[in-house]
Amino acid sequence: MEAVEVELIYDVARLEERLIFKALRRVGLEAALTNVKSVPIGWESPGVSLSIIRPVSMHRALYAASIREAVGVPTVNRSSTILFSGDKVLTLSMLRRHGVRFPESYVAFTVEAAEKALEKIGTPAVDKPPVGSWGRLVSLIRDEETLRSLVEHREMLPSQVARTHIIQRYVDGGRTDYRVLVLGGEILGAMERSAREGEWRSNVARGGRIRGVKPDPEMMELAAKAAEILGGEFVAVDLLKDDGGYMVNEVNGVPEFKGFMEATQVDVPLRLAEHVKTVLRR
Ligand SMILES: Nc1ncnc2c1ncn2[C@@H]1O[C@H](COP(=O)(O)OP(=O)(O)O)[C@@H](O)[C@H]1O
Ligand SMILES: [Mg+2]
Repeated sequence: MEAVEVELIYDVARLEERLIFKALRRVGLEAALTNVKSVPIGWESPGVSLSIIRPVSMHRALYAASIREAVGVPTVNRSSTILFSGDKVLTLSMLRRHGVRFPESYVAFTVEAAEKALEKIGTPAVDKPPVGSWGRLVSLIRDEETLRSLVEHREMLPSQVARTHIIQRYVDGGRTDYRVLVLGGEILGAMERSAREGEWRSNVARGGRIRGVKPDPEMMELAAKAAEILGGEFVAVDLLKDDGGYMVNEVNGVPEFKGFMEATQVDVPLRLAEHVKTVLRR
């Protein structure tokens, strides 16, 4: 057997990680698993040619990628992508810099600033922390009173990030959004997600219903552009839509794709493994 070519770094072995590992072997790559919850990672050569970065925790993913890159191991995704996609404030800054449309937003650090942001945005508005997923702490703000108590509650949280508020225009039709998977600049497919009854957030983790859709040219162009801006090799780009067309809501640098596979029938792990193989043989 050859030396290990690909390392899969993870913290929780979700279905996604197990499928990626199997797919790597299926395309003939020698693969190894590194569980960052059980082994330390140091700035020494891990003896692999590429690392696939899959920790659920954004910080674990970011640190693991940066450590591997420091010793010359390419990572999917690279640390800068994980950082800039993992923090929504940084994502929006990058999108703005490159002229990509997103819902009008303000960042507020205190009750006072949040109230002023709400005045600018109007109600309903959305409040979300810069780092998070599965719709956690993403709140619909119908009035100033709700916002005040929400900010006060979050003041009690220990993390500075959780005490930061992105106050955003509520995009009508946000109950339905679109997820486009981009791999090596190519569009793998798209799905539509709709919030279940009694919920306004479309996250699959919150019972959102999913349906594969044929990506239209505007969708593909925007998703590919967002991926490129963030240097994302394997990312999910989430789009919202209003009368003005699509806009980017967020980019996921360690994308979950179980639902996406069901909805689109695209063999995502196989495509990823094939892509990695191509990259390694270049
Ligand atoms: N500005 C918005 N307008 C309307 N709906 C939104 C807006 N922002 C988020 N949502 C809804 O909330 C869900 C979760 O928000 P998101 O920003 O994607 O956070 P997370 O990273 O936790 O998934 C989205 O999938 C969407 O359905
Ligand atoms: Mg989301």
